[in-house]
Amino acid sequence: MSLTNTNKHIVITAYSREEFQTTLKKQVPVGSIIGLVPTMGALHEGHASLVRTAKQTSDFVIVTVFVNPTQFTNLDDLSNYPKTEEKDIELLKKIGCDLVFFPKINDIYPDDYQFPGIDLGFLDQTMEGELRPGHFQGVCQVVYRLFQLTHPTKAYFGLKDFQQVSVIQFMVDYFQLPIKIIPCETSRNNKGLALSSRNLRLTEEQKKEALVLYKTLSESKSNAIKLTPSEVKSLAEECIRKSTLKLEYVEIVNPITLENLTNEWCAHARMCIVAYAGDVRLIDNMEIRE
Ligand code: PAF
Repeated sequence: MSLTNTNKHIVITAYSREEFQTTLKKQVPVGSIIGLVPTMGALHEGHASLVRTAKQTSDFVIVTVFVNPTQFTNLDDLSNYPKTEEKDIELLKKIGCDLVFFPKINDIYPDDYQFPGIDLGFLDQTMEGELRPGHFQGVCQVVYRLFQLTHPTKAYFGLKDFQQVSVIQFMVDYFQLPIKIIPCETSRNNKGLALSSRNLRLTEEQKKEALVLYKTLSESKSNAIKLTPSEVKSLAEECIRKSTLKLEYVEIVNPITLENLTNEWCAHARMCIVAYAGDVRLIDNMEIRE
């Protein structure tokens, strides 16, 4: 365990389950509201904003940094995943995270550990679930385990991964976990590009090209006032196909069931888009109807 002092805050780092648990016992009075921000590292302003929200609404904020192999369906993606541990700690110092935990693989998946498994139904058969079979089982497996290790009162997730938030909320309800899931708005740069660890792999040119996602979502929101979901979807597809990005999918979905909307709108309908800039997979979404 090490204490890192700055003029503003002390960040405690723990590199094993034992260190982490000893620290929790020592530092956190019984009854405290523990806020957890699970991450895979390569932290950016989007994560910082989750930590800031957690600071405002919890007594003690834990950030976990663990690149979870079981949620990757592409081995290149796993091996290319950026690792920026020192920078991550620097950022967390500035924003006042209390404890950062870098678990080892054995801390998360000891030999005798078994995730009970969960049937996610349609949530796992559409969009990311359909294209990346096993991805959400991997996410549930690791998040369930992180919850077991950290005992949070609240856990904060970015809405950029909208489907992930739906899946995690479903898991919490399914296992009746006493944890409040706090979905947090997507952080964007001043031009609208959704912040993501993968943006580190974009060239300056690709960053400009990627703005078509935000443009499409914003235009779709205006179109949604006067057109049907199918019509809005077709225009959005056309807009992305005309750009240099390679479209994977556009869907307009019910925000809870994730069922596709075609003729009728429902409250808080979401448009979800995935497209590639070069070999970087970009994901974004927006509520396009109130
Ligand atoms: O969104 C992420 O960074 C990951 O999917 C999460 C929730 C940390 C689980 O590994």
